[in-house]
Amino acid sequence: MRFTDEFLNELRSKNDIESVISQYVNLKRAGRLSKGLCPFHNEKSPSFTVYPDNQSFYCFGCGAGGEVITFIRRIENLDYIEAVKVLAERAGMNLPEDGYDDTLAKHRQRILAANREAARFFHSYMMSEQGRTGLEYFLGRGLTMQTIKHFGLGYAPDSWDALLKHMRSKGFTNQELFDANLVRESTKYEKKRYYDNFRNRAMVPIIDLRGNVIAFGGRVLDDSKPKYINTSDTLVYKKSNGVFALNFAKNGNPSKLIVCEGYMDVIAMHQAGFTNSVACLGTALTQEQARLVSRYADEIILSYDSDEAGQKATKRAIDIFGTTGVKIRVLKLTGGKDPDEIIRKYGKEKFQGLIDGAANDIEYGILRERDKYYLDSIDGRTKFLTAVADILANSNPIVQDAYASKLAAEMQISKDAILQQIKTAYRHKAKAAEKEKFSTIVRDTFSAKDEINPDKPKHLRAAKAEETLIATIMLNPDFYPKIKEKITPDIFVTEFNCRVYEAVAKRLDEGRSIELSVFSSEFSPMEMGRIAQLTTMGNKISCTVAECDDCIKILKQEKSKITAVNPADLDGDEFRNLFRNLNNGSSTKE
Ligand code: UTP
Ligand code: MN
Repeated sequence: MRFTDEFLNELRSKNDIESVISQYVNLKRAGRLSKGLCPFHNEKSPSFTVYPDNQSFYCFGCGAGGEVITFIRRIENLDYIEAVKVLAERAGMNLPEDGYDDTLAKHRQRILAANREAARFFHSYMMSEQGRTGLEYFLGRGLTMQTIKHFGLGYAPDSWDALLKHMRSKGFTNQELFDANLVRESTKYEKKRYYDNFRNRAMVPIIDLRGNVIAFGGRVLDDSKPKYINTSDTLVYKKSNGVFALNFAKNGNPSKLIVCEGYMDVIAMHQAGFTNSVACLGTALTQEQARLVSRYADEIILSYDSDEAGQKATKRAIDIFGTTGVKIRVLKLTGGKDPDEIIRKYGKEKFQGLIDGAANDIEYGILRERDKYYLDSIDGRTKFLTAVADILANSNPIVQDAYASKLAAEMQISKDAILQQIKTAYRHKAKAAEKEKFSTIVRDTFSAKDEINPDKPKHLRAAKAEETLIATIMLNPDFYPKIKEKITPDIFVTEFNCRVYEAVAKRLDEGRSIELSVFSSEFSPMEMGRIAQLTTMGNKISCTVAECDDCIKILKQEKSKITAVNPADLDGDEFRNLFRNLNNGSSTKE
């Protein structure tokens, strides 16, 4: 699957990286670079850097990097061809007629088409006479016909193969339906048989930001278990990224998003006019979901169920959203277990009141602690204030002072003592953080796994030399003719760097250019990050032919070491000697 250099160059020049990335990330220009908060990991200060000069990006926090195609692949979760298509369309370019393999892209399109057809089938079945049970379920929960249509709700027949048959008649293959997780495979029989995944369930389609049906949640009509069956991960859906109703919520350009636990809560909320609510699907909120949600709002209001599980989930969500830098507020639901119930029981005005009175994350934390202790006793008050000091430890001094004043008066403890305890808590936390940072460094240094270049931790010195060498050539392609004779692929120690070098060398041997974009078809988005990192090394290396010579020397030394100490090749004495040498200097108990 190769596009010509001409095509890729035109694509690149018509999709300036800064303007493409600006659609997703708030970039600020700083000299020749632009910086912003990384969309691929959670951070509060920007380490995501865009280099307009060579049309690349690199995040110093998480190592994501590459050129514009890689960016689109990662942010939109697309494969290479699909990302190229998106960019070509954006630039008003036609794709070349042939010369690329888009089997995977086509398969994804088929899965999306199958999901859309299935959603249509569930909906029209529910609207028919036979589907009455499903419709009555939703109406019984207070939904209007308008809401049902808006969300495309439906009903899966109480049958093993109603959907299967319908979809087959529409031309979908068993494999396509299986890959969409619409049917399951039975292994009980000699010949594979397929049956409907969703049976006798109220169906909620999950729609992505581009309007595709990517998955379903199916609820039982009674109290039996499991309550929901959800589409598992497919080529077009990753549960850990799934956010329900964000497609609707984002349309109002809300500054706040309300995050609930369940599908039914969100549907009831939208019907009541709170169209800025979403649900993070599944039980535990993930980093990816938090990042996605926080991209569309400055403030999020957590509105989880009032039961124990919901409160635990709230605490977790505060921590996770806390790493994204959005403002967090927490609803205290009173009078009902979840938003759906409260709206139905008391109406939307009551819910609006809860939103207006929602505590910020500090207040919420204090409220939670307050419930734990008996505050009439000195012991209870001491424990409560100690816990509060922990919560306030990392806040700014004004916030700390305000809460200290308020609590001092209420608890009849001096404000000074409270502030003192906050300082102590801060020191403890800072120390713990320092320790954690140190042990991370130790861990990374001694037992690091490098997913992209697995050989690197074992051969750090060699890998560094390889990287310097490749970076120097990438930054100064005119050095290449002067040093190429001295380098053969077999001087490389790590397999990944060897592969990168060979790709670079091949292009240069053919007299072609080596922009990053020409590598993105053969390296994965993660690997592209590592290659982009090499191009940011300009200020760390001297970029001279002499340095290349040094690197080559180091590689030869390291290579000979590896071949020398292969224990399998040693005879008994040599092996024992080696062992003795290794133990030298280390203290043993014997
Ligand atoms: P809830 O049990 O609160 O669901 O679980 P709900 O949507 O409010 O349902 P009702 O009001 O009882 O009808 C919250 C969310 O957790 C996921 C679903 O996404 C659900 O909406 N969940 C729950 C499952 O995936 N599987 C389950 O068995 C239960
Ligand atoms: Mn519920």
